[in-house]
Amino acid sequence: MWSKNQPHLHSLLLIVVPFLLVSTASAANPGSDILDKARNITDGETLVSAGGSFTLGFFPPGMLGKRYLGIWFSMDEDAICWVANRDRPLTDARGALMISDRGNLLLIDSSGQVVWSSNTTGTASTTVQLLESGNLVSRDGNASGAITWQSFDHPSNTLLPGMKIGKNLWTGEEWYLTSWHSADDPATGNFRYITDTEGVPQNVMLDGGKRIYRTGPWNGLRFSGVTEMGTYSDMFIYRLTSSPSEITYGYVAKAGTPFSRLVLTDDGLFRRLVWDGSSRAWKIFFQGPRDICDQYGRCGAFGLCNASAPSTSFCSCVRGFSPASPMQWKMRDTSNGCRRNMTLDCGNGISTTDGFVVMQGVKLPDTHNASVDASITLEECRTRCLANCSCLAYAPLDLKGGGTGTGCIIWREDLMDLRHVDGGQSLFLRSAKSELGEVQPPKSFPTGIVIGVTVPLVTIILALVAFWFSPWRRRWNRERISVDNPPRVVDNAPRVEENVAPPNLALLTTSFPAVSLHAVVQATGNFSEANIIGKGGFSVIYKVLIISYT
Ligand SMILES: *[C@@H]1O[C@H](CO)[C@@H](O)[C@H](O)[C@H]1NC(C)=O
Ligand SMILES: *[C@@H]1O[C@H](CO)[C@@H](O)[C@H](O)[C@H]1NC(C)=O
Ligand SMILES: *[C@@H]1O[C@H](CO)[C@@H](O)[C@H](O)[C@H]1NC(C)=O
Ligand SMILES: *[C@@H]1O[C@H](CO)[C@@H](O)[C@H](O)[C@H]1NC(C)=O
Ligand SMILES: *[C@@H]1O[C@H](CO)[C@@H](O)[C@H](O)[C@H]1NC(C)=O
Ligand SMILES: *[C@@H]1O[C@H](CO)[C@@H](O)[C@H](O)[C@H]1NC(C)=O
Ligand SMILES: *[C@@H]1O[C@H](CO)[C@@H](O)[C@H](O)[C@H]1NC(C)=O
Repeated sequence: MWSKNQPHLHSLLLIVVPFLLVSTASAANPGSDILDKARNITDGETLVSAGGSFTLGFFPPGMLGKRYLGIWFSMDEDAICWVANRDRPLTDARGALMISDRGNLLLIDSSGQVVWSSNTTGTASTTVQLLESGNLVSRDGNASGAITWQSFDHPSNTLLPGMKIGKNLWTGEEWYLTSWHSADDPATGNFRYITDTEGVPQNVMLDGGKRIYRTGPWNGLRFSGVTEMGTYSDMFIYRLTSSPSEITYGYVAKAGTPFSRLVLTDDGLFRRLVWDGSSRAWKIFFQGPRDICDQYGRCGAFGLCNASAPSTSFCSCVRGFSPASPMQWKMRDTSNGCRRNMTLDCGNGISTTDGFVVMQGVKLPDTHNASVDASITLEECRTRCLANCSCLAYAPLDLKGGGTGTGCIIWREDLMDLRHVDGGQSLFLRSAKSELGEVQPPKSFPTGIVIGVTVPLVTIILALVAFWFSPWRRRWNRERISVDNPPRVVDNAPRVEENVAPPNLALLTTSFPAVSLHAVVQATGNFSEANIIGKGGFSVIYKVLIISYT
């Protein structure tokens, strides 16, 4: 609290007096989280939320001689989460916060000028309270107690649990974060962090009017490009609300989670910070943009960014595309993006030969201009995309239910800002038939191995078993006068094909000697490997046994 004052410009008296006022005020008034008509907050005084988590008061952000009214975390007064008069600083320590006769919350300077106002109308009986959530709430003094104004509706550069950004679709009002101008100047900076409500909701960082970073669209679980969200979902519940009245994003902290905040820094970084009580420091849980591939549209239209690739070749074109300006591309200027090699086959929407290339593990491209249908399946989405030549790609809208997801996002314009991301999702890119060439639906990996290894093995064992019981062997044995132990073979045989029912063991021992090698050779096509592969897996043996019995 001391450092919130301006020690170098004022006499000791000025500093001591506010301190005494605060001490007596908080001692005498247990409701020190409440401001009403009977009380003004002057510089040096504070409101402290009931549990002590947040403090409202005046602060100087640097040695600039300017003073602001704000709310900060009580345990770290540098963690300022809201500023009232960010663009109209007070020039001395004689400002005051008060409630006007019409229920307006006013910040006045030493000359009585209104520097900031909540712009609400109510009654003189309005009360203002600093809640434990960090929300400063103004309520009507009459029986309804309706909220007439709250600081959570006017975010600065910080999103606290319970706040939201996005858009009120009825009033058109928007909530977003705005960076500070610099680390010690709360004035409105260049960066904004918004929820883009067009297409699929996604969070976007803007520098002026320019998109510079994107989280990727909300996929029901998290933002497509922020797979990290899964790693701290034990602490937070993410809330993407999409209703007729609003499209907003916010989060709440689960019980027992330490203090946390999302901050848009003055240098254009979006951070999720969590307070570590033991080291008394904020820990960065997420920071975006993370790397070169997070720079919006780094590889241009239809470009694909891979941050693990060598630093000079992280851009490539999606399959079937090549650089639109090869010379520039060679000079590492990828801004013109990529162009399709082979034109698509529109086929009147009926008989197209086009197909899809699956791009796995990506952050979905910008959905600002994409069309969305939550009511259809992914299969219907594919059909819809094929039926209209203007469809360039599709992806599921909602991954909540698991599997391949449901719903439909369709892109009809350039795919922008596509990148690889660990744990990313699948994008289905429309491609001409000639580009589909080698792209087969991926064969299940284990099946291939099992067939490759077991079939030759089974063939050999089968041959041995057949040979064991064949007249040839008996003749051969007699000639060699050797002694073997048939039960051991019988013991071994079922282990090869455990699916054969035990009664077959009897058959094996009793009736097998009657089967000629010729029959086995015939049944297996002379143990032809080609023949057996066609059947696949362990079923090979089963088939031969049946044939042997009949
Ligand atoms: C609060 O400040 C205003 C303006 O300076 C003044 O008119 C009013 O009497 C003050 N109220 C209290 C309770 O001190
Ligand atoms: C209150 O209204 C004035 C004038 O319309 C405007 O300049 C100011 O930004 C508003 N203040 C807030 C906090 O919305
Ligand atoms: C409370 O005051 C507000 C604004 O002055 C008014 O709109 C509302 O009707 C009042 N409610 C009651 C119950 O008096
Ligand atoms: C990205 O580049 C690295 C290094 O060249 C490569 O190993 C990796 O397979 C690439 N990732 C994807 C998804 O293509
Ligand atoms: C078509 O695109 C691929 C990249 O997917 C590229 O390697 C190839 O050279 C291109 N072919 C032509 C004819 O441009
Ligand atoms: C969306 O489409 C409009 C009009 O075609 C275009 O100006 C704009 O750049 C597109 N926005 C994005 C993010 O692709
Ligand atoms: C294809 O989609 C575009 C854009 O939505 C639409 O204007 C056009 O009518 C569609 N064409 C067909 C054949 O459905």
